[in-house]
Amino acid sequence: MTSEDSAPQPSNLADAPITVLGLGHIGLPTALGLADLGRRVIGADDDKQKISRIREGDPIFFEPGLAELLDKHLRSGQFQPIEDVGAAVRNGSVIFICVGTPQKPTGQADLGQVEAVARLVARNLNGYKLIVEKSTVPAITAQWLKRTIARHSLAKPGAGGSRAGNSGDGPLDFDVASNPEFLREGKALEDFFHPDRIVCGVESDRARAILTQLYRPLNCPLVITNISTAELIKHAANAFLSMKISFINMVSDLCEKVGADVTAVAQGVGLDSRISPQFLQAGIGFGGYCFPKDLRAFIYLAQEHGVDFSLLQEVERINQRRVGIFLRKVQQALWTLQGKTLGILGLAFKAGTDDIREAVSLKIIQALLEEKSSLRLYDPQAMANTQRVFPAGANVTYCSSAYEAARGAQALLLLTEWDEFRQLDLGRVRELMEVPVLVDGRNVFEPDAVQKAGFEYISLGRDGAQMAVKAGPALTV
Ligand code: UGA
Repeated sequence: MTSEDSAPQPSNLADAPITVLGLGHIGLPTALGLADLGRRVIGADDDKQKISRIREGDPIFFEPGLAELLDKHLRSGQFQPIEDVGAAVRNGSVIFICVGTPQKPTGQADLGQVEAVARLVARNLNGYKLIVEKSTVPAITAQWLKRTIARHSLAKPGAGGSRAGNSGDGPLDFDVASNPEFLREGKALEDFFHPDRIVCGVESDRARAILTQLYRPLNCPLVITNISTAELIKHAANAFLSMKISFINMVSDLCEKVGADVTAVAQGVGLDSRISPQFLQAGIGFGGYCFPKDLRAFIYLAQEHGVDFSLLQEVERINQRRVGIFLRKVQQALWTLQGKTLGILGLAFKAGTDDIREAVSLKIIQALLEEKSSLRLYDPQAMANTQRVFPAGANVTYCSSAYEAARGAQALLLLTEWDEFRQLDLGRVRELMEVPVLVDGRNVFEPDAVQKAGFEYISLGRDGAQMAVKAGPALTV
């Protein structure tokens, strides 16, 4: 593609290629999902190495089904990964911005990459384009996006104050929209193809028509709103889900004190359709690249606008305390940690991914190493990433299976809820361990089953439960 690439014209926008800028955990599944819906998709990223690996069929990170979809659409030609980000903009009709929005030490979102993309889009406007922010950004970012694109396209040499790259005398011809993503890592394609809803923040009929047409095949509720509302929906959704997790974690602590069972409480509460059972899994707290960062950004946004949203500060504080609560349980079970061999099951921030960004496991491992424990680590997907943070050494051994991690251990700590762990032969695990203590940070196991297998079992919010009638699945009577 060259700078002479022809701009898709409004009449053929429905068939014109879509451009996705930033091919990470959101960009790549989105690009391939759109390709699978029959659109021609150009994917670009300024990381040249990433592009060449993607071209070879390597999606870079683990996401179920992604490698297969990448292979399918590299072959079909529906998906074209390119290095030249400018050409990708010139050739696209709808430009999805999926670049990273890391955070500053203050918690504020760092929008440097979004701004850089806005300038790049401005320099390459060559006909009407709909610029869609998909990255999670604070409310009002779209207004900045719009202002930046307008400013920089006007500043383009030869633009003469008119629409850059167009005939030269028309009005600035682009729209900005917000189309936040709700993809979960590990389920990104499932969420792309079967969304609960799609949210589109638009400010023109044209933008509304383009996005409505684009998502029609997904046949799900479309929430069409203004741009700031769409931006806020994303933040509010992640903050609310984080709040549910912190809420159940507090309930879990209380369950331990009064002899109740948090899994049964979550079931009993979650069967109320106004509440829903999802995101009521008590455990070591939430991690990952989204919740912790988005929560801080939302808190920052509220503070910036003088709104006292201290509820969310408490959600964060509760989450931060989870590591200490879990470590105390380990310590209470083992008395001292120095020199103890501990098997660690699970490193990824959740099951289904190799992502360890802001994984709670990292904080737990760090603390255990400071206590001079010797760790035997295993995760089905995240070991390569973890090795970059904690290289193998005298106290850090990476194991080829969960059974290997258990070998000679004086306790096994479960930190990620992989299905593989649910299916372990507990008898075999027990035989391999020196001392059969299992501390379950995700409440994956049934206490009875584990205890019958000969383990001393410690989990969260269930340890004090001395109930005559054990909680079971809900019965319809
Ligand atoms: C989250 C949202 O669920 C997505 O809708 C959103 O699109 C995404 O962030 C994003 O903003 O990009 P994700 O971070 O992939 O998705 O993972 P979640 O499944 O939401 O889990 C987040 C954390 O909460 C994990 O550490 C998980 O273990 C923890 N969690 C989740 C619990 O501790 N308990 C639960 O009941 C559920």
